[in-house]
This record gives sequence, structure tokens and C-alpha cells, in this order.
Amino acid sequence: MTTSNNQQLDQLQYSKANPLPTNHSESQPSDLPQRSSSRQQMLEETEAFVRTELSGETSGHDWWHIHRVVQMTRRLAAAEQADLFICTMAALLHDIADEKLNPSKEAGMQRLNGWLDQQPLDPQEREHILEIIANMSYNGGNNPPMRTIEGKVVQDADRLDAIGAIAIARCFVYAGHVGDLMYDPEVPVREQMTAEEYRNGQSTAINHFHEKLLKLKDRINTPAAREIAEERHQYMQDYVDRFYREWNGM
Ligand code: ADP
Ligand code: NI
Repeated sequence: MTTSNNQQLDQLQYSKANPLPTNHSESQPSDLPQRSSSRQQMLEETEAFVRTELSGETSGHDWWHIHRVVQMTRRLAAAEQADLFICTMAALLHDIADEKLNPSKEAGMQRLNGWLDQQPLDPQEREHILEIIANMSYNGGNNPPMRTIEGKVVQDADRLDAIGAIAIARCFVYAGHVGDLMYDPEVPVREQMTAEEYRNGQSTAINHFHEKLLKLKDRINTPAAREIAEERHQYMQDYVDRFYREWNGM
């Protein structure tokens, strides 16, 4: 690897390059330095763990998806004054237990809990991280709203990676991964669907824009994310319009 690549990698380690603030109001003053350094270490180790676990993933949920979601999470957390540590941990781990990426839901939870068991987290922090991850998924639009600002921020960051230029690429990558066509005018767009139909029913990449991606901008939680979503949504809408024009020989 070249020096410039190495430098780039250093910058990518947001947890190292951009450490957490040290003034945590819940701690006693004498706990502060220790608590902050153990949290810093947790972030660095979690980052390394997720990077290893998801680096070869080929459905659009690879390490770089996580990296983008973490960066966006940190930007939104600053704007919304959310807890940066909880947000970053949840963003890093949000796809580790995903049913799509594991043999079963239970196996996914085991993988996530196995990692969390090794971390010196307060029980309420651990619960909060797990609650965020459990409720993040789109699930065909069937999950309840997020309870905390940290949950809203991480969910928005994940959704923003499903809106815009990168989202277009991810959608086609995913369709290829599961063996769907890019488009088939004979496959109808589904208006309502259960979580099971959403995950396992027949679709195409273009249908997925109507079934999920173009609906996301109206399901964003925070003002900071909504502004980014509007602009990315327009780009994606223009793309889909143009796809149909070309399909119809125009
Ligand atoms: P979540 O991570 O919220 O559970 P999904 O797993 O449904 O969301 O989708 C994650 C991303 O995978 C989507 O944003 C999209 O890019 C892609 N994806 C999921 N399902 C499909 C599909 N049927 N066709 C094309 N892309 C899909
Ligand atoms: Ni994700």
C-alpha cells in the first residue's frame, strides 16, 4: 500500500481522527479520563471488528456502507445534539445482526450480542444501542417510530445512504445479488406489503425505487437529514424518469 493510501486510511478512522468529547455529564469528575479513554477504545475496536466482518459483503451492505453511515451519523448527531458515542456505536453495528447478512435472525443477534458482551458498556447504554439496531430496518415500512434522538439520527443516516447517487448504485447491486432483473414492465409495483413480502416477494431494481427508495424522503426524522434527503431525492427521481424515457426509446 502506498503512503498516500495509508494517510487516507488514517483519515478514515473517524474514531481515532475525531475522538469523542471528554466532558460526559453523567460521570463523576474523577472517572472522566478513564471513561473517555475506554469509550474511545471501544469505538476503535468495534470499527476494526465491523470492518473485518463486513469487508467481503456484496449486496451493498459492505464496510463502506457502514463507513458512510457512521460519517453521516456524526454529522447529524452534531446538528441534533445527540449522544455521539451511542450514535457511533449503533451506526457501526447496525447491520451486523441484519437477517439478510446472517443465516437467521437469531444467528445475527448472537453475532451482535457476542460482540457487545465483550465491551465494558453500562447496561442502559447497551440496551439503548440494541433498541436502535432492532428498530432501524425499513421492514417494508412496518416498524414503529424511533424513540430517542440517537435512534432517529442513526436511522436517518442509514436511510440517506438509500437516497441519491450511491443509492442508485446500491439498488442495482442488490438486485443483481438476489437475482432480480433491473426492470420488467410485467412485474407490478407493490403498493402495500408485509415484511415477508417486502423481503421475499418478486421485485425488480426499478420497482424497488417505487416500493421503498422514493418514499424515504417522507420518512426522515430530523430537520438536518431532511434537507439532504430532498436534494438527493430529486436526483434519484430525475434518474428514474430518464430510465423510463430511454426504455420507451426516447
Ligand atoms: P434496511 O437496511 O432498512 O432493512 P433494506 O435491507 O430493505 O433496508 O434495504 C437496504 C438497501 O438494500 C436498500 O436501500 C436498497 O439499496 C437495497 N435493497 C433492498 N431490497 C431491495 C430490492 N428488492 N431491490 C433492490 N435493492 C434493494
Ligand atoms: Ni445499513
